[in-house]
Amino acid sequence: MAVSIRKVGVIGLGTMGAGIAQVSVQSGFETVGREVSAELADRGRAIVERYLSRAVEKGRSTEAERDAALGRLTLTTDLTDLAGCDLVIEAVLEELELKRRVFAELDRVTRPDAILATNTSALSVAEIAKATTRPERVIGMHFFNPAPVLPLVEIVRAPKSAGDAIEAAYAWAEQAGKQPVRCKDTPGFIVNRILIPLLNDCVRVLDEAGVQPADLDKAMTSGAGWPMGPCALVDLIGVDVHVHASEALHDKLGEPSMAPPERLLRMQEEGRLGRKAGRGFYEY
Ligand SMILES: NC(=O)c1ccc[n+]([C@@H]2O[C@H](COP(=O)([O-])OP(=O)(O)OC[C@H]3O[C@@H](n4cnc5c(N)ncnc54)[C@H](O)[C@@H]3O)[C@@H](O)[C@H]2O)c1
Repeated sequence: MAVSIRKVGVIGLGTMGAGIAQVSVQSGFETVGREVSAELADRGRAIVERYLSRAVEKGRSTEAERDAALGRLTLTTDLTDLAGCDLVIEAVLEELELKRRVFAELDRVTRPDAILATNTSALSVAEIAKATTRPERVIGMHFFNPAPVLPLVEIVRAPKSAGDAIEAAYAWAEQAGKQPVRCKDTPGFIVNRILIPLLNDCVRVLDEAGVQPADLDKAMTSGAGWPMGPCALVDLIGVDVHVHASEALHDKLGEPSMAPPERLLRMQEEGRLGRKAGRGFYEY
């Protein structure tokens, strides 16, 4: 079943969904964004608009291009409005039962050949696919935050995913200006499998070696060539998001370094969630 992707649906216009919708409209695709309420849908549009306007301010695009991109974005609270989509990318909260409910509904409302992709970071794509009658059309498309900025998209093949669905999603990601890579449906896929335990080790070193966050970041940027220090990176990811992903990876693979360090759990309790909270390892 060869699919040519013309119309894209995005479920959830939160941090990731709004970014993915932006990527999609910016690269010329009619895009339907679905939120749970009209207020959240408006907030999603405002995020997309703000980022597109920033690109105009920086001279990377024109006002006409911004307006045309925004014109390609339709918002809805009704999943049936995604009926005509060739590719639907789900970006709701990282909860298996919620994602399974969304996929079961998508299975009912979309065309049989439509590709249903999840942006899950740490859940099994195969488990999500089981909620549908067409696991061969279900794949993972794992974007990185912020989706309009970071080029990587992991195109995840679950055991039953069809090759043409993977290739169509890969081609779409390239058309959208991304750098896709293919991988299997294993916990953490590629980057998180490596990065989560690595960042946890970095945080443990703060206490073990008595290092300040700014010095640890200095050490890793100037000694290991990292483009950004690990504490700044955890602040950008969000302490809660990182802790959640660590717990999910640890549950599945059980390596000690995958468990979230005490220090991050304390920061989460204190609301020091990173950039989005105005305070994490650093004040913003
Ligand atoms: N934030 C990241 O760094 C990052 C990176 C890659 C992948 N992801 C994954 O992307 C997905 C979304 O993460 P996010 O950071 O954008 O989250 P977010 O909290 O910013 O957004 C969550 C979205 O889920 C929607 N939602 C909440 N309850 C819902 C319900 N009952 N029914 C339908 N929709 C509902 C919200 O309206 C919102 O649009 C998760 O699976 C996450 O693991 C996140």
